[in-house]
Amino acid sequence: MEPTPQTSANDLRSALRALVRPVAVVTAAHAGRHYAMAATAFCEVSMDPPSMLLCINRANATHAVVAEGGELCLNLLAEDHCEISRRCGGGVEPEERFDLGDWVFDPGRPPRLADACASILLRPVRVVDHATHAVVIGEVTGVTRRGDRSPLGFHDGAYLFPLAGAAFNLVAQSARLGEAGGMTDGFLMLDVMRAFYWFDEGLQSALRARGWDEVSRSQSMAFANIALGVRRPIDLARNLGITRQGVSKMLQEMVDREWVVIEPDPTDKRASIVVFSEKSQQLRADALEILDRIDEELGKRIGRKALESLRATLARDWGPPPEIAGNGSPQ
Ligand SMILES: Cc1cc2nc3c(=O)[nH]c(=O)nc-3n(C[C@H](O)[C@H](O)[C@H](O)COP(=O)(O)O)c2cc1C
Repeated sequence: MEPTPQTSANDLRSALRALVRPVAVVTAAHAGRHYAMAATAFCEVSMDPPSMLLCINRANATHAVVAEGGELCLNLLAEDHCEISRRCGGGVEPEERFDLGDWVFDPGRPPRLADACASILLRPVRVVDHATHAVVIGEVTGVTRRGDRSPLGFHDGAYLFPLAGAAFNLVAQSARLGEAGGMTDGFLMLDVMRAFYWFDEGLQSALRARGWDEVSRSQSMAFANIALGVRRPIDLARNLGITRQGVSKMLQEMVDREWVVIEPDPTDKRASIVVFSEKSQQLRADALEILDRIDEELGKRIGRKALESLRATLARDWGPPPEIAGNGSPQ
């Protein structure tokens, strides 16, 4: 059967969803106003002279600037610019699109995103109208490149974080979480767990680099619990999800390495508590300093605002663990 125009457009959309595209925000300045639109339809044309093409919907406000021959800036977005892309993709009114992001405004020039992977200035030299869109060919008049940023992607109608995703996958694999075959996607609890592993991997490798012996993940979790005031072996066993025998064995190893000492519980003579040893002081000081630096690094990668809002959300009192009513009992 011959495809109708409508079905062939849908087929094309569906096929294009298979592609991984880089994401940019195209900016322009005209008559004292600034313009920004998210874009994925762009690529290089020639290197001599250096030129690129963009496809811009003729209904977009930015197209009017192109029609006037105005300069454009193609800001190639990094992984932490997803929210900027949403805003410039029509998420907010045009004048609010520059409220988020480290934008540099030079009088009469298109705004430039200071921490973009790269910003490419283009002088339109040719515009070919085709149906709803204009194919704009621009000669490159300037490039600003930041080599330390990883790019944001767009795939199957959603944003993609290639490097962060790869790092998470590695961590998930090492924790054998990947075995669930994709069923682990979308659950906040698993995201929080992966995030914990991410921090712990960073902490462990920095401690090793400073010459400390290997600290296992359960020992690392025990350290965190003791620092939070969980001192009884039985409570540690519950929080770490291991048996009492398991926690005794782990604590004995920590005692042998002189990280902790086991003392009688002053409030209950029959029980014992775990406390940090004098000798563990330097290890703990190093760990705290490393954790501070990991927070700082995370702030650089996901943006300070995202970090602060993550911190505030996690620090809020969520109330007691929820009691979700069952809808049947196991057979
Ligand atoms: C990820 C993404 C990619 C987009 N790519 C393009 C594109 O390549 N060309 C285009 O004309 N519009 C594209 N758009 C839509 C425009 O960004 C959107 O229509 C924009 O808000 C128009 O700006 P205006 O409201 O100032 O007219 C894209 C939107 C998103 C979210």
